[in-house]
Amino acid sequence: MKLWGGRFEKKTSAQVDDFHSSIHFDYRMYRHDIRGSIAHARMLGRQNIIPAEQAELICSTLQQLLEEIDSGQIQFSVEAEDIHMNIETLLIERIGDAGKKLHTGRSRNDQVALDTRMYMMEETECLLQLLGELEDELLKIAGQNIETCMPGYTHLQKAQPVTLAHHLMAYFEMFRRDMERLKDCQKRINIMPLGSGALAGTTYDLDRHWVAKELGFADITRNSLDAVSDRDFIIEALSCCSMIMMHLSRFCEELILWSTDEFRFIEMDDSYSTGSSIMPQKKNPDVAELVRGKTGRVYGNLMALLTVMKGLPLAYNKDMQEDKEAMFDSLDTVKKCIQVFTGMISTVKFNQAQMERGALSGFANATDAADYLVKKGLPFRSAHEVIGRLVLHCIKEGKGLLDLTLSELRELSPLFEDDVYDALSLNACVNERKLPGGPAAKAVAQAIDEGRVWLEAMF
Ligand code: ARG
Repeated sequence: MKLWGGRFEKKTSAQVDDFHSSIHFDYRMYRHDIRGSIAHARMLGRQNIIPAEQAELICSTLQQLLEEIDSGQIQFSVEAEDIHMNIETLLIERIGDAGKKLHTGRSRNDQVALDTRMYMMEETECLLQLLGELEDELLKIAGQNIETCMPGYTHLQKAQPVTLAHHLMAYFEMFRRDMERLKDCQKRINIMPLGSGALAGTTYDLDRHWVAKELGFADITRNSLDAVSDRDFIIEALSCCSMIMMHLSRFCEELILWSTDEFRFIEMDDSYSTGSSIMPQKKNPDVAELVRGKTGRVYGNLMALLTVMKGLPLAYNKDMQEDKEAMFDSLDTVKKCIQVFTGMISTVKFNQAQMERGALSGFANATDAADYLVKKGLPFRSAHEVIGRLVLHCIKEGKGLLDLTLSELRELSPLFEDDVYDALSLNACVNERKLPGGPAAKAVAQAIDEGRVWLEAMF
């Protein structure tokens, strides 16, 4: 029996039941649905819209159902379509007429909006937790590598030396923004839609504020049409998820590159690597590649949902049921990716000596050489030209700038003096870049301290 069967003369075709039923994925919101229904029923009782003892019977039966679902005793039915009607049907089976009063002043349209918001609050909280753990790990590794020099790149060509700590803290910043975005997004999730009914509110004297407080929402929605047709908060969260994946993916790409024989900046732990079925020597960074690859499906889910919502007239349309799988899949994927990435990064072995060697070659100190001449009085453009010619000379000779003798240097500019060797040393190149936000040990130590204070304040 369908809860909405009265107006129909024929049974729904089995094909349609199968097609439009969402129970095989939205069952995941059963806890939220039951919590929402308990709050709604209790409010109906308090407002004398239904008898108080019936409200209590509804609540205790729902609580009982929750325990039975938790322990796997309940079989959901495709005919009952979705989680909302499955639970209501079960309730009515158990307590008859009292159960039939639960849906007073409510529609599945505001109910599904409520459940989804509750689910999203929980999931974004979980994402914040997981990102916090990753951030903590990054701070730890950065703290141990304030002095570890490595080449910084642009165009994947050696550019200027930085430190591993500085590089890791760049990712710390990305995930920090991700966390801040999620927090901000929560402001728009955390709003209670019940009382919006199907689209036009309801004539019952519901206490919307009481329900919001009972369920821990910060506020109530302000327009019933918008409340039942708004999925912005999911799209926003999926966009946050996409950005998190983009950051993880860039990080993974670097770890994959760094673990090649050409770089040898890192070695992945055996426990986070895989082998080849044919090539005995192989140790592949599959985990990093898979995180990078899963970015595609998370972007895809965002595009899918944006496209579903495009052109939908107000208010609720069944199209919107398509939001769930995209939402579940993205959240599941991102949570798993952050967790496995944190495990992977915390076990990576950094090859500090090789990183340092990398920073010493490839003319990463050429800008410093130009700056040296500027400090001796040459205009920057002229200094750039001199060092450019010097680099060309070195390339032809197969040397680095620090391999040149003072007289070789002086052939290009008489401004070079003995102090040039110190000025172009790796230590000077990194530690003279000491403005806030720069790679100097002092500046990065400060960034780490500040980062730790921020992270602690987040929880
Ligand atoms: N399963 C539906 C969904 O996820 C619930 C709302 C259905 N409302 C309706 N009028 N058909 O969107």
